[in-house]
Amino acid sequence: MADHKKAFICGWPVAHSRSPVIHRYWLRQLGIKGDYLKQPVQAENLPDFLKNIANKGFVGGNVTLPHKEQAFALADVVDQHARALGAVNTLWLEDEKLHGSNTDGYGFLANLDQHAKGWDERNDMAAIVLGAGGAARAIVHAIQSRGFSEIHLINRTRSRAVAIAGHFSRGITPHIWEELPALMPNCALLVNTTSLGMDGKAELEIDLAPLPKKCLVSDIVYMPLETALLKQARALGLKNVDGLGMLLHQAVPGFEKWFGARPVVDDALRRLVIEDMGAGQ
Ligand code: ATR
Repeated sequence: MADHKKAFICGWPVAHSRSPVIHRYWLRQLGIKGDYLKQPVQAENLPDFLKNIANKGFVGGNVTLPHKEQAFALADVVDQHARALGAVNTLWLEDEKLHGSNTDGYGFLANLDQHAKGWDERNDMAAIVLGAGGAARAIVHAIQSRGFSEIHLINRTRSRAVAIAGHFSRGITPHIWEELPALMPNCALLVNTTSLGMDGKAELEIDLAPLPKKCLVSDIVYMPLETALLKQARALGLKNVDGLGMLLHQAVPGFEKWFGARPVVDDALRRLVIEDMGAGQ
């Protein structure tokens, strides 16, 4: 049915994804007929899956781990956000071509704009990004777009931080963890992009005391919602923003492409996703 549009999330594994809860909420709220479905796809099957999305009745969808780089290579047209990162998380069909974008950076910025308005006014100070995976790459790019010209990238494996610094060519300095305390006093934003602190993973053990009182602390981990890092920031009186908003906001541009209406991230959606996380898989 032409007026019943379908979008997907493909990944391996994909069972844990909260994205269907988000998109189905907006479809209901906006009275749009449509659906959003999980599609478990293994890496070797991704080319075939993407070639056949129109045949399966999809107008587009999301791509999650481990497919974001492969989807970038497979898309016919990619926008500037995808190109900057070499990774795609949002796909849509347009003029019979497969288009790709990356909305992770948008989601990160929109989350901070919503919960810590004016956070980027201190972009004359440094930003510290913990981790050097795909999420760090998107976040570094996003922070640079808001005028931060001094970004310190801290990672266990130094070569991965060096690779990101080389990719963006200016303003990013790679470091190992031991160098972190000395960098903190001039920091306006500290973001954790590692998986440390996530339910089932090791804790992120750092002392936030050297940060200036106006430093904003954020975490992309959202299970638990308040990580030990954010709890410590709160105890020190530092403004802090959890990672759930990034997940919610990164979904907005895709929904608009597929279903033709721009949805809003509201409190009811946030509560619904938190409830769903509590329900487990
Ligand atoms: P993503 O693409 O989602 O960001 P990733 O590429 O697996 O995921 O990156 C995870 C990040 O968490 C990396 O920065 C990783 O550090 P390494 O590059 O050294 O692997 C970091 N990380 C994961 N487990 C860690 C641990 N036990 N100690 C320190 N860093 C860790």
